Amino acid sequence: MPVLTPPKKMGTVPIFWREAGPGVSDGPIAPSYNARMENHLLAPPRLPLVAPSILSADFGHMAEQCQGVFLAGADLLHLDVMDGHFVPNLTMGPDMCAGLRRAFPEATLDVHLMVTDPGQYLEPFAKAGATHLTWHIEVVSPEESRELAERTRALGLSAGVALNPPTPKERIDPYLEHCDMALVMSVNPGFSGQSFIAEVLESTRHIREACGYSGRVQMDGGVKPENARSCVEAGCDVVVAASAIFKQPPERWGDVVRALRGETQVSVG
Ligand code: DX5
Ligand code: ZN
Repeated sequence: MPVLTPPKKMGTVPIFWREAGPGVSDGPIAPSYNARMENHLLAPPRLPLVAPSILSADFGHMAEQCQGVFLAGADLLHLDVMDGHFVPNLTMGPDMCAGLRRAFPEATLDVHLMVTDPGQYLEPFAKAGATHLTWHIEVVSPEESRELAERTRALGLSAGVALNPPTPKERIDPYLEHCDMALVMSVNPGFSGQSFIAEVLESTRHIREACGYSGRVQMDGGVKPENARSCVEAGCDVVVAASAIFKQPPERWGDVVRALRGETQVSVG
């Protein structure tokens, strides 16, 4: 098993590795950790933010892959948590989040809970060092969501809600006022590598224009350099991408991140 060592050159990327050793991998993470961190969701250096979803990363080299996307210019890491009930897949849990927190103490860890009972996981993910938690409006009422958001903020994290492509866009309206971010799913959740459902751009416009929402709006699913601009024009300021980044060789990741952000016109196929 490879031993993680600090990279030789960190540049200006806000990543700090710790040497593996006694106490580093086992100790609890301070609940106040997030209060000390820069949160790119709430204080972005520039927009749109680019959020690689680690679902398409090589799980055998996770820390190295995440270091690679940060060095390529990514702003935060998106963790897709699936419980096998809300979606037909199982992925990762708080231990993955805690491991990434130990490897990247300053990173923004954006946890997308595709689970039927999000309330069960607020404290475990807060303890694991998550920065932000998003749950789905398909599984909680607006009142339940407000309570979840209050609990989440009390733990020092920001809060968000997501809606699936088939869900009528107006259903998100009563949730927006208690959330820092809205996540618009542009594929049916469960797997990376699916095709972008362009109809959800209308949901994004609804959130921005009809609701006047001023929090972050995230597009998640099938986002690629070819369609990222349409997401931003519809009102998104965070773009999530799994396969568009991790299915390319690492030497292309910088090009992909810049193209997703709209800094280049390059089409990365
Ligand atoms: C889908 C997840 C997405 C997914 C995106 O259920 O919520 O975050 O990983 O994968 P791509 O970008 O490959 O569609
Ligand atoms: Zn996601």
